[in-house]
Amino acid sequence: MKSQFAQDVLEGLTSEQKRLSSKYFYDDIGSKIFQEIMAMPEYYLTDSEFEIFDFQAKQIIEAVAFNTHFNLIELGAGDGAKTARLIAHLIELNIDFTYVPIDISQKANDILVEKMKEQFPSLTIKPKTGDYFKLLAEEQKEKDPSFLLFIGGNIGNYSESDAIDLLKLFYTNMKIGDKLLVGVDLKKNPLIIHQAYFDPHGITKRFNLNLLARINKELGANFQLDYFDFYCYYNPLTGDLKSFIVSLKEQSIFIKALDKTVELGWGELIWTELSKKYDLNEFSSLSSKAGFTHIHNFLDCKHYFSDILLEKK
Ligand code: AVI
Repeated sequence: MKSQFAQDVLEGLTSEQKRLSSKYFYDDIGSKIFQEIMAMPEYYLTDSEFEIFDFQAKQIIEAVAFNTHFNLIELGAGDGAKTARLIAHLIELNIDFTYVPIDISQKANDILVEKMKEQFPSLTIKPKTGDYFKLLAEEQKEKDPSFLLFIGGNIGNYSESDAIDLLKLFYTNMKIGDKLLVGVDLKKNPLIIHQAYFDPHGITKRFNLNLLARINKELGANFQLDYFDFYCYYNPLTGDLKSFIVSLKEQSIFIKALDKTVELGWGELIWTELSKKYDLNEFSSLSSKAGFTHIHNFLDCKHYFSDILLEKK
């Protein structure tokens, strides 16, 4: 039986427009490269969200308006750096909550728990490893209200219709009165967006090409990374930032686990990622299609990014 990764690589590389999903960027090396991306000055998303949590944590909590103990459930917690900022303020404000990070990777969760416990010895933390929705459904059997976090701009990695489907799934697995905070990267000067992804340090290129290295390692392929480049472009009219791996010559790649040879042309593109940008009205209409009631947009001072609070009414 082929793994899901193997099946997706096969389907992606045998399609007319070749593609590899960005969800596979995050092996151990890819997760480390992503941390380098988040530390780049050009990648404004991280600092913008830090700023929102640092200066508006109190307002966020007031708008969430729970007056009993609640579960702060983070979907795809990763390294939890941004959430740590929010948690620091919640603890300072003496708020009664349990932090429930949900991640697909046991290793990521273990590291996160250790870091959080070190940083916040008084924090109650109940990590869950596995599929978001199964775990969310379990959480909803609890009577305490939930405050869900889907931050970092992750919603931008879904097409608009997939984003609606994803929000609908969150909605179905929430109780009436539960809240969801979604981090959304906003449309802005296209040059700022372009630089955040077409970065001068080449870190985003390494992030993309690491996916080929992962296929080499896990599926026994023979991609030679020097024969590939990275390209991305932003369309300010649609808000789509699309990233690609570029084949620098005609080449045949053999993938042992698939027993398959893939032909790549000179200049041929493999589409890897969509990082979609919205304006506030577009996102508000998208979230209402999923059933949510909009509560508030929390913005950074430059209005680059918004953490948008939604409620299941
Ligand atoms: C995780 N995600 C929101 C990032 C983004 O901005 O789309 C991944 C990323 N890709 C390139 N740089 C960062």
